[in-house]
Amino acid sequence: MNWFDLVRGLHIIAVIAWMAGMMYLPRLYAYHTETAPPGSEFDAHFQVWEAKLLRIIINPSMAITWILGVTLILLHVYWMKQGWAFLAQPWMHVKLTAVIILSGWHGFLAGARKKLARGERPRSSKFWRATNEIPFLLAIVAVLAVTLEFGSR
Ligand code: HEM
Repeated sequence: MNWFDLVRGLHIIAVIAWMAGMMYLPRLYAYHTETAPPGSEFDAHFQVWEAKLLRIIINPSMAITWILGVTLILLHVYWMKQGWAFLAQPWMHVKLTAVIILSGWHGFLAGARKKLARGERPRSSKFWRATNEIPFLLAIVAVLAVTLEFGSR
């Protein structure tokens, strides 16, 4: 059995769950902002759905994506003996930039959930709809960086 390919496959599965959650959450925020005034029965429902989506899907899948991604880097560096120069390749810089922005967006969404739960409406539903595709666009960059490996040694 090839451990590298197993880790790579599990990494992609975790990425799918992370991206799916990050694309669904702003949609909930848009409906929450539009249809559920603070203190209403709907408000309480949205709070539960948003908290569960973050706690059960988005947070664990981000942690697993990072852990397996770093494992893949270590396998390249030590097991495939490519050394730390592996990280110096242009496509890796692009990939890591995309994942760092994705992780920051994750933090922003988690902060917005807390504000919504406090009865605040931090952004308009128009904002949540307009930014809904941000993770998808960053995912395109991250995936094409690893599949094309442009500028690789
Ligand atoms: C969170 C931090 C992440 C790290 C440290 C990381 C690192 C890595 C590494 C080192 C590889 C192996 C590359 C190779 O062997 O050629 C890899 C594969 C891959 N990563 Fe990530 N990754 C991360 C997140 C992501 C994200 C967010 C996505 C997509 C949105 C993604 C998509 C992929 C895909 C599709 C592959 C397989 C590429 C192939 O088999 O050719 N990764 N990742």
